[in-house]
Amino acid sequence: MSDRSYYLPTEHGDRVFSVEAPRIKFGRGALAELGQDARALGMARVAVYTDPRVAEQEPLARAIASLQQAGVDAVVYPEVEVEPTDRSIRAGTRFASEGGFDGFVSLGGGSVMDTCKASNLYSSFPADLLEYVNAPIGRAALVPGPLKPHIACPTSFGTASECTGIAVFDLLELQAKTGIVSPRLRPNLGILDPLSLQTLPREVRAANGFDVFSHACESWTARPFTRRDAPEAPSERPLGQGANPYSDLACLEAIRLVGAHLVRGVQDPSMDDLEALMFAGMLAGIGFGNAGCHLPHGMSYAVSGLVRDFHPAGWPSGHALVPHGISVIVNSPAVFRFTGPACDERHLRAADALGLDVRGTSPSDGGEVLAEGLIRLMQTTGIPNGLNALGYGPADLDALTDRAFAQKRLLENTPRPVTREDLQGLFRASLYCW
Ligand SMILES: NC(=O)c1ccc[n+]([C@@H]2O[C@H](COP(=O)([O-])OP(=O)(O)OC[C@H]3O[C@@H](n4cnc5c(N)ncnc54)[C@H](O)[C@@H]3O)[C@@H](O)[C@H]2O)c1
Ligand SMILES: [Fe+2]
Repeated sequence: MSDRSYYLPTEHGDRVFSVEAPRIKFGRGALAELGQDARALGMARVAVYTDPRVAEQEPLARAIASLQQAGVDAVVYPEVEVEPTDRSIRAGTRFASEGGFDGFVSLGGGSVMDTCKASNLYSSFPADLLEYVNAPIGRAALVPGPLKPHIACPTSFGTASECTGIAVFDLLELQAKTGIVSPRLRPNLGILDPLSLQTLPREVRAANGFDVFSHACESWTARPFTRRDAPEAPSERPLGQGANPYSDLACLEAIRLVGAHLVRGVQDPSMDDLEALMFAGMLAGIGFGNAGCHLPHGMSYAVSGLVRDFHPAGWPSGHALVPHGISVIVNSPAVFRFTGPACDERHLRAADALGLDVRGTSPSDGGEVLAEGLIRLMQTTGIPNGLNALGYGPADLDALTDRAFAQKRLLENTPRPVTREDLQGLFRASLYCW
């Protein structure tokens, strides 16, 4: 096994890691197989979740045609809210409960796939919304049984929601993003067709690229699984089990592909660039689905939850929102400077995989080299300069810190302990990235 030194046994630490493998098909034209795949999963009447913009694009027509050819009855639900909230999850659940469906198809970005997962859950096992939501915000109840089959067909490439048992949404009342995590939420199949990315707006491509990078780099630099206490029962081993030799393989390759294709993929993508980025997104999904993210994602939930009036180009203008990839990456330079000393060689190897010039640097520069290179990539691809550009100032640091400090699952997966003061310092350092 590679990198033994990172996985040295510790006294109370886990000795075992598990490998969760999503079922995926990948390739140009793969969406044409949707109908037959739905039939193979026993579906005869499906709800097709999408959002108003994706509903206008060609992939939806191709998906419906494929379902109809296979004799699968399809009813489209085009109302998914981008950056979903508890309000939109409730609306999606109502649609699922009333339609008499025996399966689900999601066609869209992470917003669509996550709404579909949650609607499948709450229509199959009705409960108060907080029942399955992560603690401490929710009660984190175990999902009682299998859900109806779900085929996820991404039309973006960042979230890898098709690979994971995670659904993320905003709780409006608490102004915080939160989520549900259960292996039962994982779609039965993901159909990744790079042709579905052709109409993805430039700004969304940039945000997606940094989401991919963050999934991969946070998983790669996560606390090793051997330094998390061994669970008392195997069923208690968390999905975010920490860095491990399996997720490492996927993550380093995902970082390499982002380094090779992101700038062109934002500025003037060829089909080869889009295909490589979609593949990278899938690899990063496999990585973080088996390791878990850490601080930049934990901080991002506060950044997107507390948004006041940011209306980014490229997204619907209906409500203020901070796109997920942007809410993550603005925190990352400060975080990697902070986590660098915990595993500096890993930070340097991530920088190298990203294509940065690491000649003449020493491993102890790892966090700094990675942060600097990341900032240049953010500048080249038009990412806003830090929290300040998203509408936050020093007066918001307490509220941001409080909300992020509640993200225990992600904080514990960080390679070094994080105090509340550390977290506040990281938000302060993220007001301006350059
Ligand atoms: N479940 C997970 O594991 C996971 C992981 C990371 C992020 N997320 C969540 O996913 C959401 C973000 O998802 P996303 O980045 O995929 O974006 P998105 O689904 O929010 O979509 C962004 C915008 O792009 C548009 N769009 C999507 N595909 C398009 C296409 N092919 N052509 C034209 N327009 C298109 C959408 O209509 C929308 O306006 C956030 O809520 C985030 O928290 C979930
Ligand atoms: Fe993400």
